[in-house]
Amino acid sequence: MALSLFRLMGQDLAVDLGTAGTRIYSRGRGIVLDEPSLVAHHPRTGKIVAYGAEADGLDGETRLVRPVWGQGTFDRDFTRRMLKHFLRKVHAHPYARPRVVMALPDDSTAVERRDLQDLAFESDARQIYLVRHGLAAALGAGLPLGEPAGVMIIDIGHAFARIAVVAGGQVVAARTTRSGGDHLNDSIARLVERDHGLIVGDGAAEAAKRGLGPAWKPLDRQVTVHAHAPETGHESQVTLTAQEIYEATSQPADLIVRAAIGTLDGCPAEVVADVAVHGAVLLGGGSLVCGLSRRLRARLGVPVRRAERPRESVTLGLGRCADDLALAASLHAIHP
Ligand SMILES: Nc1ncnc2c1ncn2[C@@H]1O[C@H](COP(=O)(O)OP(=O)(O)OP(=O)(O)O)[C@@H](O)[C@H]1O
Ligand SMILES: [Mg+2]
Repeated sequence: MALSLFRLMGQDLAVDLGTAGTRIYSRGRGIVLDEPSLVAHHPRTGKIVAYGAEADGLDGETRLVRPVWGQGTFDRDFTRRMLKHFLRKVHAHPYARPRVVMALPDDSTAVERRDLQDLAFESDARQIYLVRHGLAAALGAGLPLGEPAGVMIIDIGHAFARIAVVAGGQVVAARTTRSGGDHLNDSIARLVERDHGLIVGDGAAEAAKRGLGPAWKPLDRQVTVHAHAPETGHESQVTLTAQEIYEATSQPADLIVRAAIGTLDGCPAEVVADVAVHGAVLLGGGSLVCGLSRRLRARLGVPVRRAERPRESVTLGLGRCADDLALAASLHAIHP
């Protein structure tokens, strides 16, 4: 009896399970966990030694795995154990089981939806609400969901950019393209190899990408990161300008522009006209890359603004639903 009472006393949580990071919002408390989606395990024994922030930076014997692949796909065992660990970490009582709100990718299949539900239950959730990603993003970016006018949401995450056109509280059209922060790192590494004849690892490409901040100007801003010579392996440094990072974002930005235009192709004419006026809202960690929003504005020809807390917008939108489960129920995606 006592045990089942504890189960019912679980908190209401919102979980944004990203390929790069997991963020958890607790009803009435705000964001209580923000850690990399990482699992460290021993390759020989398979034993998990750490999760999240603790796993980050471990080396030597352990292997690091990013178990969330994105778009509703994940390594089931590692993800379940990681999520269970995170839920326990934020949850006050070991027996209490939370009600969990999660985002469902807008173009996911019924199988992916079922997988997400199973994952949440296997990670000790008592009840699961799946809210369409585009609606969670719109809510978290502070857009009034009920408004009939169409607006475009562009979430540039780690592995993917997800585009949704939202109007009248519905996702009218959505597309996903493989162009996120990870892709931007690869583009920076390729540019350094081509123009400087040096190799930069993922950590250095990441530092270069973050080093300049979101604004493109002034163009003479620079960032210096570690590099090495391809043949000798000789350690050195490379200094990159805002102009070079801007150039490196060209190809990933093109993919996003094409996906955004493709998404509009699937919309009724009046919604396209709305988007031309109201424009697009950028969010996701990848939207913080130097010059990206300016480039998207120029290429799409519509107003583009970045959400106030772009990395956390989806979590905050899901959090609004955890604060108000009636809202979550009304947005609950039964037929993805
Ligand atoms: N200040 C910053 N400047 C540039 N890029 C950043 C910054 N902060 C985070 N990023 C990039 O944002 C990406 C992660 O974004 P986000 O946290 O939105 O991803 P995610 O939700 O885990 O991934 P996904 O939505 O694709 O599953 C990473 O590639 C990271 O390098
Ligand atoms: Mg994300």
